[in-house]
Parts: sequence; C-alpha cells; structure tokens
Amino acid sequence: MSLLTTVNKFLLILSSFTSIGVLLSFAFLLIESEGKLQNSAEKLRKIGFLSTLMWAGTSLLQIILTLANILDSKISGALDATTLKSFVLQIDLGRFLLAQFIIAIVIVFAVTFVRTALQSIIALGLALLGLIAPVFQSHSASAGSHSLAIGSLIVHVIALALWVGGVLAVTFLSTHDKDAALARFSQLALWAAIAVVASGIANAWSRLNFSEAWNTEYASIVLAKSILTSVLIVIGYFNRKHLKNAQGSRTRFVIQLIAGEALVMISIVLLGSWLSNTQPPTRAEVAIDPATSIVGLSAPAAPTLARILTAYNPDALVIALLVTFVSLYIKGVAVLKKRGDAWPVGRTIAFALGIASIDLATSGGLGVYALFSFQYHMIAHMILGMVAPIGLVLGAPITLALRTLPQGRTPTERGVRGSLLALLHSRYSVILTNPVVALALFDGSLFVLYFTNLFGNLMQSHVGHLFMNVHFLLAGFLFFHVIIGIDPNPRRIPHLVRIVMLFAAMSIHAFFAIALLSTSTLIDNGYYQTIKTPWVTDLLADQHAAGSIAWAMGEVPIILALTATFIQWMRDDSREAKRIDRNESRKAAMGEPDELADYNNYLSKLQQRDEKEGRQ
Ligand code: HEM
Repeated sequence: MSLLTTVNKFLLILSSFTSIGVLLSFAFLLIESEGKLQNSAEKLRKIGFLSTLMWAGTSLLQIILTLANILDSKISGALDATTLKSFVLQIDLGRFLLAQFIIAIVIVFAVTFVRTALQSIIALGLALLGLIAPVFQSHSASAGSHSLAIGSLIVHVIALALWVGGVLAVTFLSTHDKDAALARFSQLALWAAIAVVASGIANAWSRLNFSEAWNTEYASIVLAKSILTSVLIVIGYFNRKHLKNAQGSRTRFVIQLIAGEALVMISIVLLGSWLSNTQPPTRAEVAIDPATSIVGLSAPAAPTLARILTAYNPDALVIALLVTFVSLYIKGVAVLKKRGDAWPVGRTIAFALGIASIDLATSGGLGVYALFSFQYHMIAHMILGMVAPIGLVLGAPITLALRTLPQGRTPTERGVRGSLLALLHSRYSVILTNPVVALALFDGSLFVLYFTNLFGNLMQSHVGHLFMNVHFLLAGFLFFHVIIGIDPNPRRIPHLVRIVMLFAAMSIHAFFAIALLSTSTLIDNGYYQTIKTPWVTDLLADQHAAGSIAWAMGEVPIILALTATFIQWMRDDSREAKRIDRNESRKAAMGEPDELADYNNYLSKLQQRDEKEGRQ
C-alpha cells in the first residue's frame, strides 16, 4: 500500500507542479497584449488541462489511500461511505486533502478559461493554496516546533512548484516563446532554488536534530536528495551561463541542459514523495506535555523583558515572506537609486520597523509568549494589527512597486506593473477601500473573533494561528492605508471622513476592551486551560489583563494616526493654497482675467446696488 501511496503522491506532485508551471507562464512568463493572453498560451493550455485533470484524480486517490493507511486496511475498507465522509468532514487531515481535491477541480476550469494575465495570477495563488493545504496536517505537524517544520515545508513546496513547474512549462514552449520566458524565468528560478535548499535544510533539521536520527531510512533519503540537488544546481548554473552568453539564441546544448535539469528534478521529486511517506525519526525518551503536542513547544519561563527580547521560535513561512518583502523593497530602492531617483529614507525606516515588529510578534518573544498567555497574545495582536501596519503603510511599498516593476516587453504588453495597476483600480480594490468596509474588517472582526468560538478553535492549530495573524496584519494594513496611506488609492477620501473613521475606531476599540474586561467566563474555548502555562495561575485575570492591554495599546496608534491625518490635512491645504496662488499668478502673467478678483468685484457691485435701492 505504501508503494502505491508514494507513486500516487509522486504523480500528484508532478501534475500539480506542471499545472502551477502553466499558470506561472500565463501570469508572468508569456508575452501578453494589453493584459490578454496570446496564441502562444494555447499549446500550454492543453498541457495544463491534462495536468490539472491528473492532479484532481491523484488528489482524490490520495484521500482514499491516506485513509486506508490510517485504518491499516485495504482500499475497499477506505471506500466505506460513512468512514470516508467522517474522514473528509471531521478529521483535519481529511479536510485538507478534500480542500486540495476541490481546488484542483476549480483549477481544471481556470486553466481552460483564463484569458488575462491578471486572472492567471489569481488562479496561480489559488493553485498554490491547494498544493500546500495538506502540508498543514502532514507529519510536519507532529514534529517539534510546528512553526519551523510546517513553515519550512510550505516554503519548500511553494518554491519547488515555481521552480520545477516553471522548468517543465518552459520545456513545452515553442522556440520563439522560450526566449522571452527564459529571460524572465531564470531570475525567479534562482530565488526559488535558494528557497528550496534553505527550506529543505530547515525542514531536515527540524527532524534530524539528534544523533540517532541519522541512521534511519529517512535520513538516507534526505542525504540522497541533497546530493542530487547539488547536481541540479551545477546544471542550473551552466544553463544560466550559456543562456547569458548565447544572448537569447539557444544552442542544442542549452536545450539538452534544460531537459537534463527537468530529468534530475523529476527524480528528486520522486525521492521527496517517498520521503513524505516515510515516518520521520522520533526521540524515544521525550515526554510530550500538552503544550508541546498542541504548539510544538514547551512553556517558556515566566516572562521578563529580557526573555521576551531573546526568545525565538522561527516561523519559517512568516520569515520567508518577510525576507521576500524586504529583498523586493531593497531591490526597488536600489533600482531607483541607480536611476538617480530619490526615495525618502524615512519610508525605508518605517517599512523596516513594520517588518521588525511583525517578526517580534510572530517568531520573536511576543509570538512565543502569545502561545502561552492571553495577555501576551493581545500584545502580539495589537502589534500585528496596529503598529506593524502603520510602519508598512508609511513605507509606501505600492508606490515603490509602481515606480520599479518591469514594464511590458513589447509596446502592447501591459507587464507586471500594468497588472498591479489594473488590480489597484479593480472593482475589488474600490470595494475594499470603502471606509465602512475597512473599518468593519479592522474593528468588526474583533468581536467576530473573540466573542464566538472562532478564537479558541483557531488557537488549536498552526494554520489557525497563521490565519489569525495574517488577518490582523491585512485588516490593519487596509485600515491605515485608507487613513494615512501614501500609496495610490482608487478612492479620494476626504480628511474629515478619515478623522470620523479614526474616532469611530477608537470608540469601537474601547467598547471591545471594556467588553473583554467585563467577561466572567473564559472565551478561549479552553485553549489556555489545556496548555497549562505554569506562570498563568488565574486564567480569567489573564483574560482581563488582555482587555486592559487592548484598551491601552489600541488607542495609542489611533491617536498617532489622528495626528498624522491632521498634519496631512494641513499639508494638503497649504499645497492646495500654493497651487491656487501659482495658478492665479500664472493667469495674471498671461493677462487672463483674475476670476477671484472679478468675483469680488461682482459681489461689491451687488452690494452697492442693494444699498442704493435701500435693501439691506
Ligand atoms: C538540500 C536540498 C533538499 C533538502 C535537504 C530537502 C529536504 C526535504 C524534507 C526534509 C522534506 C520533508 C519530507 C517530509 O514530509 O517529511 C522534503 C520534501 C520534499 N522535497 Fe525536498 N529537499 C531538498 C531539495 C529538494 C529538491 C531540489 C526537490 C525537487 C526538485 C525536492 C522535492 C521535495 C518534494 C516533492 C517533497 C515532498 C513535499 C510534500 O510533502 O508535499 N526537495 N524535502
């Protein structure tokens, strides 16, 4: 059975990678015209249709094979309707495998019907989500430090899909399209390869960080993979070198190299599928306490400032995202500098502070202590929802992207920059930047999260925790983008409306904090009770402390934003006044009538007439 599961997983991974490679080509590699895909996409579309069908089929079979393995029964045993139904609806692993299957079906239609680069970008995002869904409940979830094991495997799988998928899709392209695609893909392939190796090593470390682990089947497969990966990187290096020297014309040698690269990759994917089906080594003597089984970490010592500033539990996925954003930001600033364009250093500092506070509240000490105490969870929430977004928004990342993203490769191509502009001006952005929507997501979600079972349920799993943190950050980013954002906004929101929004946010936040302060029962669905943190003796007091923190920490950033809005208002007004003055003096210089003076004259004439006729 396990051989069948490995072979099926191999076909699943290969077909999903190919499907993602096809969507990546549609979204970024193939030349489009005004955002629309050209005929060059049609050959790939057929391959994409077949690979997505295979992905859907193998992911359905993966559900049945996984259940049969869990039941230690034949496939027929897993085909029992009741068992299968409860597996896919009630068991986390079953649910994630079902999610992958459903998304694979949706991608069959997406690959068939997408017509624009923007639609392909959205379908690509969805396909990557489908691919990583089962990873949240793979045996990475049973390893120590879930955030390192699960996070690094997710980064591994995403980087692999872009790298391997991209190479497979490019091999199917016609000669003419290969040039444009390879030039753009080789950059991406380099980054993806770095991410694959770094995340592979991080994941291997999270399982093989004790000596006995090294004489296991698992360790030997990891070693074989590492050796083959080095071969792959050497081939990749020669490929890039020849591509650069060949200046776009491909020699027979380059085609062989690409084919060679694809072949080595496929064999490593086979090893990877085998690995994901092999039980990783476990430390025999380790007693698993409730905290370790739920969050993968035993409770740290009672919090002190030093401990909060030094504790670190790397969340590989968040770290990978932060490294990607920071690298892109630095690259953007470097491009501007090279062009001789200025970029205010204050923006870079604000962005860096935003990124640093995200790291502190996720992998850093606040992120660690948030897993063990409600009040520290609330501090981390306030940092992610209020402090970090202000830094990111004042860093103006969208403006930087618009000023540095590549334009079209042909006169008619809209390019990546064009796709971002289209997204910014799309109906979705207009709806999202509506002040009421931004405020509802920012403050309304507080009540939905904390005064329903949602909070307790989300705290129980790594994916739940990740979802909460991402929501806090995005809701905060949207809110502060609407209020004090420097980046382009599809709506021009008057300063008065922004100030009203801030006062509304302040009062709703205070109301939320008071509601939390006056709770008489625990609202975490028993999460902190199960964790049994030795230094949290009174859970209700800890919850009430979270209420005071929400109040204190919630108001400060809003007052900061209020001050910033007033300053922006005054600046805009004086800018407007200067513009009018400039306009008036230009008109005067051109001998054009001074409307303002004319209008005043008209008013005084009216007054004189009224006085004459005795009408006051
Ligand atoms: C230094 C290089 C690498 C190391 C140390 C490494 C290590 C790992 C580890 C530890 C896993 C987790 C397996 C599990 O679930 O327990 C994994 C999964 C995997 N790796 Fe790698 N890897 C490396 C490079 C690569 C490369 C280059 C490829 C393909 C071209 C690859 C393909 C895969 C696949 C397909 C999986 C299974 C993913 C899944 O479960 O969905 N790996 N790798």
